[in-house]
Amino acid sequence: MDAEKVHVPEERKSYLSTIYGKALDARAEHPILGDTYAEEAVSRIDFDFDKLAVGGDAAITLPFRAKLFDDWTREFLDAHPDATVLHLGCGLDTRVFRIDPPATVRWYDVDLADAIDLRRQLYPDRPGYEMIATSVADLKWLDAIPGDKPVLVVAEGLVQYLTVEDRDALFMRITEQFPSGEITFDAYGRATTAVLSFALRLARTGLRLYGPIKDGHEIEEHVPRLRLVSAVSFLTLPEMVPLLIHSKAQGWIYRRVLEHWEWYRRSMQHFRYEF
Ligand SMILES: C[S@@+](CC[C@H](N)C(=O)[O-])C[C@H]1O[C@@H](n2cnc3c(N)ncnc32)[C@H](O)[C@@H]1O
Repeated sequence: MDAEKVHVPEERKSYLSTIYGKALDARAEHPILGDTYAEEAVSRIDFDFDKLAVGGDAAITLPFRAKLFDDWTREFLDAHPDATVLHLGCGLDTRVFRIDPPATVRWYDVDLADAIDLRRQLYPDRPGYEMIATSVADLKWLDAIPGDKPVLVVAEGLVQYLTVEDRDALFMRITEQFPSGEITFDAYGRATTAVLSFALRLARTGLRLYGPIKDGHEIEEHVPRLRLVSAVSFLTLPEMVPLLIHSKAQGWIYRRVLEHWEWYRRSMQHFRYEF
């Protein structure tokens, strides 16, 4: 990767926050994800990252979130070394470099044009790898993808930005196009969606959140080929929680109340489906 600075045309894009969280983690004494590619990319982006409200807990949760999807990706590719990976809403995430799949894997990083334009300036090409600039909701992009192999869909931090109709149409199309595979994504519960939507409106970001998910089984009703394999309660991940508790009072509230509260356990979940 060459060292020339890359200009960002618009500020406050969600993918800048997520890559910055991973870069901060890479600089930590004991990194969680250790994404040195993210750190290198951030050093090349001409942007004042201090302006983003990322740091502290976000520098813990973002790498944990990415790590969970990396683990699922590695598991799938170990079982299917000739798979197709659709990494949807990839932003600037460097998963393809972290995982470093064999050239037998076809890997597509898909995002809106501005994110893909930045990626092209930041990251090198590699065998079996392609970037696609499109809305994932415009299903025409799938016409060009061969549907002959098992597919892994990784949609980290994306699904909450899709309307329920677009999300379901996308999943339906994927389950019709490929013989088998897995679809993985994270989603918010109802209260989290409401609170974050309000915050986004106050901040005048123009972003909207859709489709809160309760237990994950509702997706099976909308997309009949999908079977829910895991629903992981993200905010109660045993290896992450101790790092997020900074005082005795916080620890007490967590153990006595939050941990047992269904609303809290479902406020952010990671879902894994197979078909
Ligand atoms: C929160 S960021 C997550 C980026 C990356 N997955 C990560 O975790 O670092 C959300 C990403 O979804 C992308 N996105 C939102 N709506 C999209 C759509 N309809 N089609 C494709 N990408 C979309 C945004 O451009 C952004 O890159």
